This record gives sequence, structure tokens and C-alpha cells, in this order.
Amino acid sequence: MSILPPGSTLGILGGGQLGRYMAMSAQSKGYRVAVLDPQEDAPAHMVANLKLVGPYDDPESLRQLADCCDAITFEFENVPASSLEPFAAKGLAIRPGPKALASCQDRILEKTLINHCGIETAPWKPIHQAQDLAKALAELGGEGILKTSRSGYDGKGQARVKTLDDAQAAFAKFGSVACVLEGLVPFALECSVLAARDTDGHCETYPVCENAHQDHILDVTICPAAVSESSARAMRSRTALLAQELDYVGHLAVEFFVLPGGEVLVNEIAPRPHNSGHLTIDTALHSQFEQHVRCVLGWPVLPYESIQTAAAMANLLGDLWDHGEPHWERLGEFPDVRLHLYGKAKARPGRKMGHLTAWAESPLAAERLVRDARAALGSAA
Ligand SMILES: Nc1ncnc2c1ncn2[C@@H]1O[C@H](COP(=O)(O)OP(=O)(O)O)[C@@H](O)[C@H]1O
Ligand SMILES: [Mg+2]
Repeated sequence: MSILPPGSTLGILGGGQLGRYMAMSAQSKGYRVAVLDPQEDAPAHMVANLKLVGPYDDPESLRQLADCCDAITFEFENVPASSLEPFAAKGLAIRPGPKALASCQDRILEKTLINHCGIETAPWKPIHQAQDLAKALAELGGEGILKTSRSGYDGKGQARVKTLDDAQAAFAKFGSVACVLEGLVPFALECSVLAARDTDGHCETYPVCENAHQDHILDVTICPAAVSESSARAMRSRTALLAQELDYVGHLAVEFFVLPGGEVLVNEIAPRPHNSGHLTIDTALHSQFEQHVRCVLGWPVLPYESIQTAAAMANLLGDLWDHGEPHWERLGEFPDVRLHLYGKAKARPGRKMGHLTAWAESPLAAERLVRDARAALGSAA
């Protein structure tokens, strides 16, 4: 194991809230951080030691970043694979590596890899052309969800289809790009497993989180999830297996569907820290960002445990600003709730502006706290 010495510079592609927390974690250990993001006022730019403003595929910006950093990581999976070339050419540590990035940014490759490991997903079919739709739809029972193979997030690039006409219209609307058609999963709940793997191949997983979505965007996470021991074990071991298969270095999250009988299916892999892992900032001894930068910089991964019995996290989306500034003063009524904001100047509906966390004696009690506090922010006392 070779640790990059503190004082070295970590490069981060992407300057959103995930990049910002990565940057702050690295800085807390004496590293410098350089961030590339197209937005001048990106959340991570506000804390970076070196701020580069430019597109992720701009050769000049990438060259500048490669010239000044000692290791490179990314905060989102849609970085073009070619953007990593200047770093590879200089022999810099790219963590997670190109294999993980390539496999996780393309749903066809991702599901193929997962199934190849003997791990179940929703039934799915690759769709390369409109002519593929009829057979695939029939094999999946006549309805499903069409997802673009690349570039989707927060439900974008997805359509629920109930007929062949629906499917053809959605495929055309997506620009006839490669897609997957998935069978509908009648899940009882959705979960995620947070995991970090170091350069020696040691992998640590966090107790399973349970996620509720609103309009396809994560709304509330609770931990530990209300699942059986055997479902939890199955999710944690599948996550570790996938991390190994991807030669993964850094933090990742695997999203699961849990069926009413307790069986688990992998939904997707996020090759980075994950929104559901935000509660680790307050309730784990070492947060997901700390684990990520440790592994990326060559340090050993640490035990990944909650130091609270139960915790919850509620996202604060831009909608909360619809009628002006939220009523921050009302948080005085919730001394056990912690507020995190990402420093974004403009609130837009659906935009992740911050989150609340709380812990309590049970997941439901923690959930009640963050939901009540969020509701209070929306109205004067
Ligand atoms: N096959 C499916 N069956 C039922 N619900 C699904 C299926 N695929 C996705 N969903 C729902 O849509 C959400 C977003 O889909 P996901 O594939 O995770 O895309 P994203 O990249 O937007 O997170 C999931 O969390 C789940 O609630
Ligand atoms: Mg998802």
C-alpha cells in the first residue's frame, strides 16, 4: 500500500456537493484539492485550492488539471472515458479506475457485468434500434421501463411504457440512442449499500440504508433498513463482490430492490459517494467522503459503522424555496436535527440544495424528526 503524502493534490472532476464534501475531507487531512467544473460558482469551487472552470472534455482544462494533481477522482459517472486519458498518460492514480467508470456509466455494460457475477437484476433487454422493442416488450410481459443506457440520473432518460406505441414514442424521444427495457419490479422497498474498497482490496460496507423517492429523486433515507438479517447480508455481500469484480478503489453505492419475500435485486451501481450516504457525515465514525478520499489517496479503508442506533436524512430540494427563503429560524425547535447546505446560489425545483440529518432510538423516530423539521422550514411558526 502506497500512501500519497499529505501536501499532494487531489484532482476532482465535477464540482457539485459530492465533490465539495470530498474536497473538504481531503483538506482536513492536509491535502490540496483542484476541481474542474463548467460552473464558475459550483459548490466545490468555493472550497477548492485550485479552481478550473471548463467542460469535462476540454483538452486544455484537463491538461491543466493533470499538470497540477497527483491523483484524480470524479464525483459523477458521466465523465467521458476520454477525459481520463491525460491522467493515464502521466501515470497518475485514477481512482476508481477506468473499468469501473466504463461499466457503471452504461446500463447495458453494467447489467451485463452484474448478471455475469451471478447476481440478479430486474429482467432486462438491450435496445439498440426501434425494431428491438416489440420482441423485448413481449418477453417482459408487455410493459416496463425504458431507460437510456447512458447519461440518466434522478429519473431523467426514463419512461414507463405500457404499449409498443409508448415504447416506440419514448425511444424516438430519447433520440434513438441505445437503451435498456426493464421489467417492472413489484418491490417492497428500495435500499442502498454504501461501500469503500482500498488499494489492497479490503472492502467495508455500511449497514443497509432504506430509500424513499419522490418523483424519481431521493427524498428520505433511513438506516438501518427494515429488512431481514438475511436480506441485509445478501445485499452487503453482493456489493462487496461487485466492488471486487470492478477492481474498485474508492467509495461506491449499490442500489437494490427488495421483493416482498425478502429476495434482493440489484438496480444500479453508483461509482462514487451517494446521496443516501449523506447521513454518514453525522452518524458514522468515518463518513463516505472520508472513506472515499482515504482509499483514493492510498490509505487503508476503516471500519464502516454507524455510531448511532438509527438515523435518517431528508433532502432539501429547490422547491422548498418556492415562496422565498425557508424559515431557518424554525430549526430552533429541532435541536437534534443537523442542517447541511451546499452553497448553491440559485434554487430550482428538483435541485438538491442541502439535507437534514437526525438520529434517534429507532429509524422511524429519526425519520419523523427530519420530516417534521423539513415541513417546519416550509411554513412560518
Ligand atoms: N425496473 C424497475 N421497476 C420498478 N421501479 C423502477 C425500476 N427501475 C427504476 N425504478 C424506479 O425509478 C427510480 C430511478 O431509477 P434508477 O434506475 O435508479 O435511475 P436513476 O439513475 O435515475 O437513479 C428507482 O429508484 C425506482 O424507484
Ligand atoms: Mg438510481
